[in-house]
Amino acid sequence: MKHLIDPMDLSVQEIDHMLHLADDIIAHKEKYREVCRYKKLATLFFEPSTRTRLSFEAAMLELGGSVLGFSSADSSSSAKGESVSDTVQVVSGYADIIAMRHPKEGAPHVAARRSMVPVINAGDGGHNHPTQTLTDLMTIYREKGRLDNMTIGLCGDLKFGRTVHSIIKAMSRYENIHFVMISPEELRLPEYIIKDVFEKKQISYKEVRTMEEVMPELDILYMTRVQRERFFNEADYIRLKDSFILDTYKLKRAKQDLCIMHPLPRVNEIDIKVDDDPRACYFKQTLYGKYIRMALIMTLLGVSADED
Ligand code: NCD
Repeated sequence: MKHLIDPMDLSVQEIDHMLHLADDIIAHKEKYREVCRYKKLATLFFEPSTRTRLSFEAAMLELGGSVLGFSSADSSSSAKGESVSDTVQVVSGYADIIAMRHPKEGAPHVAARRSMVPVINAGDGGHNHPTQTLTDLMTIYREKGRLDNMTIGLCGDLKFGRTVHSIIKAMSRYENIHFVMISPEELRLPEYIIKDVFEKKQISYKEVRTMEEVMPELDILYMTRVQRERFFNEADYIRLKDSFILDTYKLKRAKQDLCIMHPLPRVNEIDIKVDDDPRACYFKQTLYGKYIRMALIMTLLGVSADED
């Protein structure tokens, strides 16, 4: 049985297979309408979510399956003190696959050990978010037509932003990728990622303190919000929250085929005027997220459209 806890749990070949499956789902939606009939997805969300939870649920419903679950820790027995492993042990008797988000790093890993069905990490604290990464890879692949040979700027809260940590791991496996880290000193990428990914694999990266100085180099600009819920004090958040704001003026020096991404939610790090720029891909990105999650659910459940 396969779980998805860390983006590296999937090989490049498996990711490739899922991207092609998602392409086929987009092109032939009707073929997939019943493939998960009688299958149930449980969404266990101990932390808030809009896109991740709803795209998982929409994905399962579009495959003909059904969904159950909860959307906050308060509405589960976690509020009574139940452990994650007990909750998962119980729910894995009620569902065929589980998507789980938790504020504690490593919680989905603990869950996977006790589960009788596949567990998908839908975000664990400031650690990883592998299904956002699949969404991001799908967006890059669909918008740029490739996953190699590009310069990727990652901007904002690189310290607490789990989507950043996961996309770096995943993209570092493709040829000729250059990373540009754009953040205030206090929100720099954690040292362990610099060591374990960039240095170990000898991947080209640089750290800068302004967007403007690197804008013309970028093929992808991945914006992120400052992760308020992971700060220890509000004053630090207020001081750092507006460190980087992308606006139409800053985009003047960007490439014509730049792809602007954001896992969303946006707070105010992208001016809404940018939404009308054809290079803004962040709303398309949310839709790709549904299709790649359909491909992921099918893959982990071992179902295919060709069987019936
Ligand atoms: C991200 C997350 O939850 O980490 N959102 C998402 O899943 N689309 C990014 C964020 O919350 O800033």
